[in-house]
Amino acid sequence: MDLRSWLSSGVDAIEEWQATFGPYQRHDSLQISDERFATAFSGFTQRLGENYPFFHPSYAGQMLKPPHPAAVAGYLTAMLINPNNHALDGGPATARMEKEAVAQLAQMFGLATHLGHLTTSGTMANLEALYVARELHPRRGIAYSAEAHYTHSRMCGVLGVEGTAVAVDGAGRLDLGALDALLAGGSIGTVVATAGTTGLGAIDPVHEVLAIARAHGVRVHVDAAYGGFFTLLAGADGPAGLREAPWRAIAECDSVVVDPHKHGLQPYGCGAVLFSDPDVGRFYLHDSPYTYFTSGDLHLGEISLECSRAGAAAAALWLTFELLPPTPDGLGRVLAAGRRAALDWAQLLSDSGRLELYQRPELDIVCYFPAASPPSLSTVDQASARMLAEGMADPAHPVYLSTLRVTADAFGRRHPGVAADRDGARILRSVLMKPEAENVVAELHARIEQLAGGS
Ligand SMILES: Cc1ncc(COP(=O)(O)O)c(C=O)c1O
Repeated sequence: MDLRSWLSSGVDAIEEWQATFGPYQRHDSLQISDERFATAFSGFTQRLGENYPFFHPSYAGQMLKPPHPAAVAGYLTAMLINPNNHALDGGPATARMEKEAVAQLAQMFGLATHLGHLTTSGTMANLEALYVARELHPRRGIAYSAEAHYTHSRMCGVLGVEGTAVAVDGAGRLDLGALDALLAGGSIGTVVATAGTTGLGAIDPVHEVLAIARAHGVRVHVDAAYGGFFTLLAGADGPAGLREAPWRAIAECDSVVVDPHKHGLQPYGCGAVLFSDPDVGRFYLHDSPYTYFTSGDLHLGEISLECSRAGAAAAALWLTFELLPPTPDGLGRVLAAGRRAALDWAQLLSDSGRLELYQRPELDIVCYFPAASPPSLSTVDQASARMLAEGMADPAHPVYLSTLRVTADAFGRRHPGVAADRDGARILRSVLMKPEAENVVAELHARIEQLAGGS
């Protein structure tokens, strides 16, 4: 699709709609000449050039990529109206789009019933789930793995709930023995399982967590902010297919968070939380004398902690789902490419003399480290930091990676031959969330091998 022309069609469509309400004069105070705008805009676009090239295959660092052009066209077109999805009074069309898009997400996870909405981020979405967890079990705490996103502990602090980090196994997944022992104590009301950890992309065994939790009368929330859309690959044929059990179990859990602004091709400002029991809506009851007056239907603000939220975010997601729905044949194909890229690269890393695979990727996040000499955490740490800096600074063939700090214990469980001469080390981490990664893995690997060799 030609983004330039569709953006212009978006402006036309909104201007045509506006014209149906009759002419009006914009206020003088808002008038800006094209000449002045040109100067400011030129400085602005120059400042934007200070970014890293998230769009390019040479950017193989963090969880970052531009949105799909369809999402851009949807967002910008709706933004010309600037609806607010807090209430049907502020965003009637986009609030309906949000409900439809959220229903598609519920269907993707196989939820039989749901209550949910979009949020501005994964952090806010998890906060909503933890808030409901607290309301249901006011005197019991929340458990999550030691490798869960750092905001779970922070949000427990915000909510005044005790948060407990549970040990992980040798692959970065929640340790079931440790969880069982903790839950047996009776102090935990909700456990958070992460389907795709931020660091390694590890998938907690949601089905087994669920069985243990239910045996102790404990609720389960799934943080699938990063990994959620990978449920589309559960049981799929071919190398990209994922083991079904953890993904299918999400349908039986109490809540789930997924971020369309990560793997749903959306711009930032688009997370989502879904509860399997619509009755939890009672915890959101509030009085808002200035809203909820145009319709007796459910207003999204009646079931969200946040008030104002961009209707444009819902519009972008809805339009994207019209074209690339959250189905195995739609978005699933996009995710499968990144997953194949990760597996192909893992193979190259396993065969490499200069680089070593940290652990086999479960999703599309690949972690690796230079085969430093002598092999110790100090040499690995220094070489990783050097490669990160040299890769970004190379004017001719830049490559952008990220680092992950791992503990000596975690490293030693995977690579006992590397001397633990300090308490941890930085290793290299690449999130292959652009499907184009599939076509450049060999090139990327060769470039990073060069960096490992000092060139
Ligand atoms: C598993 C997981 N949960 C939560 C978050 C927080 O999401 P956000 O950055 O959208 O607030 C992230 C972000 O990377 C994540 O990976």
